[in-house]
Amino acid sequence: MNNPAAAQPPAVPPAANDACWCGSGRKYKRCHKTTEGRIEPGTISPMLTVPAHIVKPPYAETGKVTRWQESAVKSPEIIERMRIACSTAAEVLRLAGEFVRPGITTDEIDVYVHNLCIERGAYPSPLNYSGYPKSVCTSVNEVICHGIPDSRVLQEGDIINLDVTCYMNGVHGDTNATFAVGEIDKESRDLIAITEECTWRGIEAVVPGRPLSDIGKAIETRAKQDQMGVIRAFIGHGIGEQFHTDIQVLHYYDKSNNTIMRPGMTFTIEPMISLGTYQHRMWKDDWTAVTADGKRTAQFEHTVLVTDTGVDVLTGGIGAASPFAPWNR
Ligand code: MF3
Ligand code: CO
Ligand code: CO
Repeated sequence: MNNPAAAQPPAVPPAANDACWCGSGRKYKRCHKTTEGRIEPGTISPMLTVPAHIVKPPYAETGKVTRWQESAVKSPEIIERMRIACSTAAEVLRLAGEFVRPGITTDEIDVYVHNLCIERGAYPSPLNYSGYPKSVCTSVNEVICHGIPDSRVLQEGDIINLDVTCYMNGVHGDTNATFAVGEIDKESRDLIAITEECTWRGIEAVVPGRPLSDIGKAIETRAKQDQMGVIRAFIGHGIGEQFHTDIQVLHYYDKSNNTIMRPGMTFTIEPMISLGTYQHRMWKDDWTAVTADGKRTAQFEHTVLVTDTGVDVLTGGIGAASPFAPWNR
């Protein structure tokens, strides 16, 4: 017989509907689950509209994403269009990051990003993508990704990832970064710095003729040096005329991720790194992913192009090079 009084909570708690760890036989959510220190859902405001002159992706009206066959290797003409969408996304992300401060809501960030996109002639790709209700993803503290902007007020000490994607001239550009809200603790600063370094280690591993698994290997190796978790459930993806295409970029090493990188391929590298477990849980909204243990997580993302000799970071700005490359260290 187990003795509930003696049971200790495990490092990774059960899922909400699974049996509680204490042995009571009740669901975890009806027993020991607490919301203390965790992000809680706020109120989601009505969907914003996009003016008629902005060219919209096919899902904008219906919310339904229909996939079609799209070449993994892009034509020079598509690549030129992607450069524009990607540099616009990078600029919007930078401005949105400068807007982050204690006391504002994530919904205010959404309105700001929405308008920045429209001013630049871009459609904010997340809006109505598979029914996603907002123009940017705002993922705070233990939220791994796809956090929905809502009425929650940012607190001094929070960390927040903003994931910006712009659709312009028929193509998408996707980039994200994690920002500090006011002063943050050292553990969070280190998490953000290591996550950015992981992202660039992954980017440095983009070499034509090599398998995609080199990217995950580089990221995982760096994360492990500091005993950090690499989230497994969300991955990098091919991108172009569609937001998400076939190419899958795992952020941990898996030898079966063996597609060979070829010049002209475009995909994202977007590792999510956590202070604890790699395991995740989903909120009831079916979008918000959080770490199973409630520990903080950070993410950075770039859209990259495989070139004849290496990599071009399309969302990296002019002359983008890894700040962690040997010659920049
Ligand atoms: N930008 C995210 C990515 O990096 C995808 C967001 S999908 C949305 O792939 F629907 F949540 F916007
Ligand atoms: Co992406
Ligand atoms: Co993104």
